Amino acid sequence: MNSNTVMILGGDGYLGWTLGLAMANRTDRHVVLVDNLVKRRWEKEAGAKVLVPLKSPKARIAEYERIFGKRNLSFEKVELLDSKAVEKVIAKYRPAVVINAAQQPSAPFSMSSAKNAAATFSNNIVGHLNVIWAIAHISKATNYIKLGSGGCYMATDTDYVPLGKHDFTFEHHGKQHKVLQGLIPMQATDFYHQSKIADLLIDDLCSKMWDMKVITVQQATIFGATIPENHSKACGGLAARFNYDAVFGTVFNRFVCQMVIGHPLTVYGDGTQKTGLISLSDTAENFIKLANLDVEPGEHTIVHNYTHRLSIREIAQRLADIDPLAKIHYLDNPRREPTCKLDLQVELHEAVEVTQANKEARLQAEMANLLEFTHRYKDNIDPDIILPKIQWSAGETNATSPGFVRTL
Ligand SMILES: NC(=O)c1ccc[n+]([C@@H]2O[C@H](COP(=O)([O-])OP(=O)(O)OC[C@H]3O[C@@H](n4cnc5c(N)ncnc54)[C@H](O)[C@@H]3O)[C@@H](O)[C@H]2O)c1
Repeated sequence: MNSNTVMILGGDGYLGWTLGLAMANRTDRHVVLVDNLVKRRWEKEAGAKVLVPLKSPKARIAEYERIFGKRNLSFEKVELLDSKAVEKVIAKYRPAVVINAAQQPSAPFSMSSAKNAAATFSNNIVGHLNVIWAIAHISKATNYIKLGSGGCYMATDTDYVPLGKHDFTFEHHGKQHKVLQGLIPMQATDFYHQSKIADLLIDDLCSKMWDMKVITVQQATIFGATIPENHSKACGGLAARFNYDAVFGTVFNRFVCQMVIGHPLTVYGDGTQKTGLISLSDTAENFIKLANLDVEPGEHTIVHNYTHRLSIREIAQRLADIDPLAKIHYLDNPRREPTCKLDLQVELHEAVEVTQANKEARLQAEMANLLEFTHRYKDNIDPDIILPKIQWSAGETNATSPGFVRTL
């Protein structure tokens, strides 16, 4: 095994490329990016556009070598749905760590058609299965870090999500019952998150069954476009994919693009639904730590990776506080998001606690960074792709008119 290699699956992606760039520049690891470039096709099909024209992985790697003078970043084009190709790339590198960020990452895409729901399940479940199978049978000493999602708990009405397994009690027909060493129930509100729940359970099964070293990172919504390595104008050729449309863009990034072009920030529903949030920079920093984490074979480690928990309305308000001209509009919610009664707290893993320090100051700094960066590419923003067209209700998918604006 080459103990210095980290393989990042999804290396053409928003997170995968950013992690690869940070890891290669900040450590002496050899970083291998793996991707089949399918996201570029999905973006075309969904009518999505990116904020900054996205260079090919090879062109960005050449730019990295020119700017940082290091040659520890490389790319392999591999389809994770092809088990033989996955086995081949794992056998070629026998990496110390594999980080799997190669998935279909959008809830609306998974709800847009039967075809796209199935593509989500096959990419996210079968692709993941091929990877974990190849690691177990070819390179068992590898630490496998799988991207999950904090959204797996979105419909679980609890006041606390602990890490790992616990004993639970519940009452039924007036009698107390127990569950020993179980995971907290996860409940999805869309097919994307359903696939992430399946993935977590596959991680749990395989770590026990094959004595594997597995970490599932229940990742919060990421915001931001850059890290120190690619923020400056001179490093524009290292820009990551930045989706801002209704299908692939995440809420914070979408709001910032709306604000920069003077469009009202469009909140779904009354905006009281809360989400975990973490900046792209903090995410990269935390994953570099997780790649060094000592994991026991057979022990499935779960990490919740977030810095803030804010409601959608609070996110919009934080941004509107910066610009007195910014307006907030409330749209009928195209999603089926449950109203939970309990105020949720989420336990943090000690490996990622550091990003909790000065979190308000970090949030302000990241918002300023993102606004400044987005202003640079303002002319690339297409307002027509930001309003939601995909609805969760059966029979109403692909409605073409975002004609459900209302103001509270
Ligand atoms: N971005 C967020 O806010 C966020 C939040 C929570 C979890 N996540 C998770 O993080 C991971 C990365 O998300 P992202 O935002 O960087 O998405 P992204 O779409 O930008 O990147 C995913 C990459 O994976 C590649 N890929 C997909 N299927 C593949 C396959 N079968 N074979 C090879 N490559 C394949 C795509 O081409 C793409 O480049 C996903 O697992 C996502 O669910 C992201």
